[in-house]
Amino acid sequence: MLAPGSGPELRTWFAPLWRQISWLTCWIALCTAEALPACPLPCTCDGHGLQVDCSGRGLTALPPDLPAATRTLLLLNNRLSFLPGGAFASLSGLQRLDLSNNFLDGLPRTAFGELANLTELQLRNNSLRALDPELLRPLPRLRHLDLSLNGLARLPPGLFDGLPALRSLFLRANRLQSLDRRTFEPLAGLQLLQVGDNPWECDCHLRDFKHWLEWFSYRGGRLDQLTCTLPKELRGKDMRAVPMEMFNYCSQLDGQQSSAGLEVPGPPCTKASPEPPKPKPGPEPEPEPSTACPQKQRPRPVSVRRAIGTVIIAGVVCGVVCIMMVVAAAYGCIYASLMAKYHRELKKRQPLMGDPDGEHEDQKQISSVA
Ligand SMILES: *[C@@H]1O[C@H](CO)[C@@H](O)[C@H](O)[C@H]1NC(C)=O
Ligand SMILES: *[C@@H]1O[C@H](CO)[C@@H](O)[C@H](O)[C@H]1NC(C)=O
Repeated sequence: MLAPGSGPELRTWFAPLWRQISWLTCWIALCTAEALPACPLPCTCDGHGLQVDCSGRGLTALPPDLPAATRTLLLLNNRLSFLPGGAFASLSGLQRLDLSNNFLDGLPRTAFGELANLTELQLRNNSLRALDPELLRPLPRLRHLDLSLNGLARLPPGLFDGLPALRSLFLRANRLQSLDRRTFEPLAGLQLLQVGDNPWECDCHLRDFKHWLEWFSYRGGRLDQLTCTLPKELRGKDMRAVPMEMFNYCSQLDGQQSSAGLEVPGPPCTKASPEPPKPKPGPEPEPEPSTACPQKQRPRPVSVRRAIGTVIIAGVVCGVVCIMMVVAAAYGCIYASLMAKYHRELKKRQPLMGDPDGEHEDQKQISSVA
């Protein structure tokens, strides 16, 4: 409350100060706006707007107006359940994208279009069940990809075709039972692969992947674990420690496949094959599809077949002999008891006739049968 009369003096003193304050405020606001290109409301942006942090904001959709200069976009710990196609099309300079701990249950094929500079993509702990084979094609510089803790049951062929720069790939804790070697062959620079906590089925399909793993570890790649769930006799074993001989039966399937015209490309071959070359590969029934190291892939189908044949013939012969012996023994017993009975009756009926010669002969016969 100003006293009457003191108003005009105060106003003349206050006006310039007020003008100065307004100018200062305006200037600060302008500077800030220049330094911080509009940060979307629920997010925080670092000094230059290169890192936009929208994590843990309960978001169900992408915030609008993300700064075009964004290099790192953190969207983890939200409730995103879907992304529209071309969701990040305006962020072509993006290098790191973290979508961990959301509820994404599918991704449109164009979700990551235009992200040619992306080097790190985190999709850990979502609800992904399947991936489009084209999804990762537009990411030629991707170095780290985390798909752990999802519901992936298989990886479509060609999924990694566009990722020559990938260094680390995490596939832990999914529902994968098998992997196709051909899906992994484009990953020439891969150094770290995590596949633990999946229900691996250690059969012929995974045998081919095991071949790829041998090459992978030969060139220095690291793998966490590949523990079999099925078949029962291999449960708990690491697939890498299971000897190749356990999968000899697969060669029969291979033979059927290649004679049916289904060509399986050979593994990338190295001289440091952990298996020693076989002294006698045996006659090859079919030409080897992979010419580089045939002895590594081809077990001995001919000798195996021969061994099985021998076992079967021996079993049949033994069985026939056994049956014949049992029949002969039974026949002898029955004959002996019949003869004994017949003899007793004969003695009862003809006690006076006496026929020591006949009796003698019968006894001889019985003893000879027994
Ligand atoms: C991608 O990165 C390269 C080199 O780091 C840079 O020259 C280019 O401008 C970047 N592209 C975009 C769209 O930011
Ligand atoms: C996975 O995400 C859910 C929901 O976002 C969260 O509650 C849970 O703790 C996360 N689990 C792990 C292992 O990070």
